[in-house]
Amino acid sequence: MIFNWKDRFSTGIEEIDKQHKRLFEIGGEIYNLATLKDGQDHYDEIIALLGHLKEYTEYHFGYEEELMEKYNYNKLEEHKQQHEMFVKKLVEIDTQDIDSKQKKVILDILDFIVNWISSHILGADFQYKDIIK
Ligand SMILES: [Fe+2]
Ligand SMILES: [Fe+2]
Repeated sequence: MIFNWKDRFSTGIEEIDKQHKRLFEIGGEIYNLATLKDGQDHYDEIIALLGHLKEYTEYHFGYEEELMEKYNYNKLEEHKQQHEMFVKKLVEIDTQDIDSKQKKVILDILDFIVNWISSHILGADFQYKDIIK
């Protein structure tokens, strides 16, 4: 399961790892709600988690960018652009509470997180780790 933290996701920077672990947690919580087979509708809870995800995203990207600035990281602009792209995608997730769309919203959120983990953390974030460490 992609939302289980594994050492291969570690940057070796304690605070960054802590924040990335939070992303895994949010992903896991959304996944668990989305796959519950209790006959209940958990859409409202998923939307609440999406709210947390938005707050977390802002906080984490801000933290990372400040850190990269502090170390005069040469790929800062590139990295910021990737962050902006993720924020844009997140804003674009259409959360209209229409029954037929619920599944799509949930899949969009999960897809967003999986993409962030597999392409951004293992890609762009891994590129700065040795400079900051
Ligand atoms: Fe990150
Ligand atoms: Fe990043």
